[in-house]
Amino acid sequence: MEFNVEREKKMAAVSAVDYLDDGMTVGLGTGSTVAYLIPAIAYRELDITCVATSPATENLATSHGLRVVAFDKLDHLDVAIDGADQVDPHGWLIKGGGGAHTRERIVASAARRFIVIVSANKLVGRLRPPVPLELMSFGLPSTLRWLLGDVRIRSDALRTPDGGVLADWYGPVDDPIGLGRHFSSTPGVVSHGLFQPALTERVLIGRGTQVDVMKVSPPE
Ligand code: 5RP
Repeated sequence: MEFNVEREKKMAAVSAVDYLDDGMTVGLGTGSTVAYLIPAIAYRELDITCVATSPATENLATSHGLRVVAFDKLDHLDVAIDGADQVDPHGWLIKGGGGAHTRERIVASAARRFIVIVSANKLVGRLRPPVPLELMSFGLPSTLRWLLGDVRIRSDALRTPDGGVLADWYGPVDDPIGLGRHFSSTPGVVSHGLFQPALTERVLIGRGTQVDVMKVSPPE
């Protein structure tokens, strides 16, 4: 079972390289699926410029010889590729299991095409908790009070590279639009892991021995 999941992640990741070409600027997500993507990109010896959503991704990418630049000069990216924790039938995602969702949202939003790579076990009929959050440490008890729900600080997690505190929402997720608005309007919430379908162009799903394509939104 575990072997199949890993094989499906790898198949989805390898298939995403077909969306890349010389000269592109590419956002690299974070996680175990992206860890299969990076060597597959390196193998193709493409002349691309990457930005990384986490120190782990940056280290892996540079160790494979990819060119990684700081995301402070480019104002857009051609493509971003990332994994997800959950994908619902409408293309809503929950991301941030690895705690990189703030940077991942910035990179996905900057990309003309955001391509998601998952194994089939990430597909869900309905989104379910937890939803990852990144919170400011300043005023943290007040932010938790305003969030009004079951929010648990990740006690084992380090701060994010941007100094944020990682937490998870365990309340209901039935209304992702309303919940996303609730998070965004709460002072002290830096970002959340609910990614609306309009962000994602397609999801590449490793399923058994094939890769299925779920088209979510038209390319920008
Ligand atoms: C990290 C993420 C990851 O993309 C998500 O957790 C999926 O990870 P994996 O590919 O290891 O299953 O959002 O913040």
